[in-house]
Amino acid sequence: MMSMEDFIRGIPKAELHLHIEGTFEPELMFAIAGRNNIRLRHKSVEEIRAAYEFTSLQDFLDIYYEGAGILTTEQDFYDLTLAYLRKARSQNVLHSEIFCDPQTHTARGVDFSTVMEGIHRAVTDAAEESGISAKLIICFLRHLDESAAMETLEQALAFKDRIIAVGLDSTEVGHPPSKFRRVFDRARSEGFLTVAHAGEEGPAEYIRQALDLLKVSRIDHGIHCLDDRALTEELARRRIPLTVCPLSNLRLRVIDTMESHPVREMMRSGLMVTINSDDPAYFGGYVNENYLAVATAFGMTKEDIGRLAKNSFTASFLSRQEKDRMTAKVDEYMKQYG
Ligand code: HPA
Ligand code: ZN
Repeated sequence: MMSMEDFIRGIPKAELHLHIEGTFEPELMFAIAGRNNIRLRHKSVEEIRAAYEFTSLQDFLDIYYEGAGILTTEQDFYDLTLAYLRKARSQNVLHSEIFCDPQTHTARGVDFSTVMEGIHRAVTDAAEESGISAKLIICFLRHLDESAAMETLEQALAFKDRIIAVGLDSTEVGHPPSKFRRVFDRARSEGFLTVAHAGEEGPAEYIRQALDLLKVSRIDHGIHCLDDRALTEELARRRIPLTVCPLSNLRLRVIDTMESHPVREMMRSGLMVTINSDDPAYFGGYVNENYLAVATAFGMTKEDIGRLAKNSFTASFLSRQEKDRMTAKVDEYMKQYG
């Protein structure tokens, strides 16, 4: 019989919660810093990896923004994105919805278009190379004010055909979704879908706000929803997907042990749960390692994994037709190996 690890490796899946800046591996950091004449604080790849001991989301973000600050040229964004898409395809990811943080780059004088062009060229080349598909979601940094987000949205209008949705990330506590109500209203009126990080470190109330005020199609993380029973029931009834990132939650100490992760209870509550890697270069695993971590911690069955993989396509922003084609691939895999 096929091992759980091999079963997870082979199953067709989508990834829906992935920050492109969070795929920046130390080896590529050195290569790109070298050609951009940037001196890194650390002397080796090993030294960089050793520094990845996080105590909270903020503790991580400080290091993550430092790394992202190396990215300067269109080629940098291209190389970063192509490396991720190749890695994802090697894990049988057939579709990925990629976050990027334009403000992290425009604040340093990098053009919005440089970020867009580099990512887009990589998405096009990767599709041609391996058939993987990708969509782009730009996130507003919630530690900055709403007017900065509005400026970013205005820059995004010229790239409407390349951006499927807008999202909200960075420091959560103290920066509730309500702070971004007007910019999300505007984004929806311009035709963008909306998502938001909510209930990662923040309370269930932030998930409620993301739903009611930002009218999001998905909640990113959302693991604190179980604290509010009415909210959980509504999320389940409306089949609002939650993009859960288990290794991220563990590494940022949102949970103490993988065995205490709420994902099992979330699935039992009838929620549309998906499994994702968030910032894989920083958290010690890409999407398959995240599936394996929860499968091991909860003794999940192949049926459970099949459901999570199917959810990943159902919860995506693919067309109805593409979703049907992808979920049929999962069904086929289950019939053969499940
Ligand atoms: N939460 C908030 N902001 C982020 C994250 C995250 O997990 N990863 C990158 N930016
Ligand atoms: Zn995230």
